[in-house]
Amino acid sequence: MILIIDFGSQYNQLIARRVRECHVYCQIEPPGIHADQVRALAPEGIILSGGPASIYEKTSPRMDPAILDLGIPVLGICYGMQFMIHALGGSVKRADKREYGFASLTVRRRSGLFANVDKHTDVWMSHGDAITALPKGFTITASTANTPMAAVANTRKKLFGLQFHPEVHHTPQGKRMIRSFLFDICGCKPSWTMKSFARTAVQQIRDEVGDRKVILGLSGGVDSSVTAVLLHRAIGRQLTCIFVDNGLLRLNEARQLRERLSRHLDIRIRFVRAQGRFLKALKGVVNPEKKRKIIGRVFMEVFEAEAAKIKGAEFLAQGTLYPDVIESVSAFGGPTSVIKSHHNVGGLPRKMKLKLIEPLKYLFKDEVRQLGKTLGLADELVWRQPFPGPGLAIRIIGEITPKRLAVLRKVDDLLLEEIRSAGYYKRLWQSFAVLLPLKSVGVMGDRRTYENIVAIRAVTSKDAMTADWARLPHKFLAALSNRIINEISGVNRVVYDISSKPPSTIEWE
Ligand code: XMP
Repeated sequence: MILIIDFGSQYNQLIARRVRECHVYCQIEPPGIHADQVRALAPEGIILSGGPASIYEKTSPRMDPAILDLGIPVLGICYGMQFMIHALGGSVKRADKREYGFASLTVRRRSGLFANVDKHTDVWMSHGDAITALPKGFTITASTANTPMAAVANTRKKLFGLQFHPEVHHTPQGKRMIRSFLFDICGCKPSWTMKSFARTAVQQIRDEVGDRKVILGLSGGVDSSVTAVLLHRAIGRQLTCIFVDNGLLRLNEARQLRERLSRHLDIRIRFVRAQGRFLKALKGVVNPEKKRKIIGRVFMEVFEAEAAKIKGAEFLAQGTLYPDVIESVSAFGGPTSVIKSHHNVGGLPRKMKLKLIEPLKYLFKDEVRQLGKTLGLADELVWRQPFPGPGLAIRIIGEITPKRLAVLRKVDDLLLEEIRSAGYYKRLWQSFAVLLPLKSVGVMGDRRTYENIVAIRAVTSKDAMTADWARLPHKFLAALSNRIINEISGVNRVVYDISSKPPSTIEWE
C-alpha cells in the first residue's frame, strides 16, 4: 500500500490513478495524519503531493515531520518536496520567476527514480518556489535550465524529491519514475487487481454485517449495480435492493434491470411502481430546479416508506466512488463523507438511522467497471453511459406529460440503437435526445405538419467535469435524423447540439 498525503494539489487523483495503474493499492490522507497512524497503516511508501501553497505562508498545510523518520521511503512532489526539504533543514525560496510548462530535464545518474529514464527527457513544471539549499545527506539527481535542483535524493534514507509533476501526461517518462519508486525503492508487488479487491471486500462486508440485513437503492447505473452484485456475493439474500420506477425511465429500463439482476443473479429486488406519484407532483412544473427538488423529495418519501417495510434492516449501502470522497477531503481537515448534493440517496441515512456501507468508496469509475466485469455483470450494465437520477424529466424542457414522455422514450430508444450499432456507444461519454418546448412547421407527403423538435446531444468526456460535443459523421447524423422523423410521430425536426462544457453543461437542465 502507498499512502498519498494530500497537500491540496489539483493532480492528487492523478497520482492515485498512476499508482493504481501499476496494480498497487493507494490511499489519500490529509496532512493532519499523525506518525502513529501512518505506522499503523504500514504503507510500503509515502508520496507527498503538490499543492498551491508556499511553505512560508502561515496557513500552508503541514505534516508531522516524524513521518519522514519512520524509515518508509518518501517521494515528495513539488510542494511535497519543498515541505520535506524545509522540514529537514534545507531552504526553499521564492523563485525569480514562476515556472509553468515544459522543461528539459538532464538526469545526473540513471539510478533510483531515474533508473529507467533517458538522460534527457521533458518534464512538466508548475511552481513558484524552489529549493536553494539541501539538507545533509541529500544530493541533486537531475536539473533543468531554470531549476538546478529539479530532483534531489537522500538515497540512504530513501527520501526523494521532484520539483516537476511525474503524474501528468505532459511528463512522458513520469510513469517510469513512479514505477521505479513503487517497485525498486518501496518493494511493492503489483498485486492490486479487481479480483483481489473483490475477495477482500467480500470478507470485510461479511465481517461487518454478520447476519444482519442491508438495504440498497438501485438506480440501474453502473455504481449501484456493481455494489449490489458485490454485496450479494458477500451476504446473498440478506441484501434487499429497492428500485423506484419514477416514470421517468427509458423504454423497458425496469424490465431489463430485472432480467439482468434478479433473474440471472438471484438478487432480491423490490420494484416500487411510483410513476403516478412522480408525474402528479411534476404536473405543470417547468422550472428545472423545481423539477429536481420535487423528484428528490418524492424519491425520498417513496424510498423511506419501502425501506420501512424491510424489518430489521440495519445498514444502507451506497455506491459512492473515490472521487466523491476525495473531493470532500479538504487539504487542511479530515475526511468527511459528504455526498454530492445531486446524488439521489444522499441524506437518507441520517433520517433513517441506518449505518452506511460504501464498498466502492476507494475505487475510481474505470476500476468499478473492471470490478463489475470480474463479478460477471453483463456488458450492457458495466458499460452503461451515465443516466441522471431525475431521468428523462430533465431532458424534457418544459412540462412533463405522459404524451411527451412517450415521444422522448421512443426517440431515445431509437437513438441508442443507432449509436450502438454504429459502434459509438462505448466511445461516447453520453449520447441522448432532448425534447424541446417548441414546435415547427414541416411537410410530410403533401401535408403540412406542426410538430416537436428534438435535439441530439453526444459528448466525449473523461469525468463529466468538462466535455466536448462529439464530431459524429454527417452521414451518421443524416441517417439518424431521417429515422427519427420518419418513424416517430410527433417529431418533424432534429437538431444537433454543438456546445461544449463549459460553458454549457452536458444535460440541458
Ligand atoms: P452536467 O449536466 O452538470 O452533468 O454537465 C454532469 C454529469 O452528471 C450527470 N447528472 C446527474 N447525475 N443525478 C445524477 O445522478 C443528477 O441529478 C444529475 N444531473 C446531472 C449528467 O448526466 C452528467 O453525466
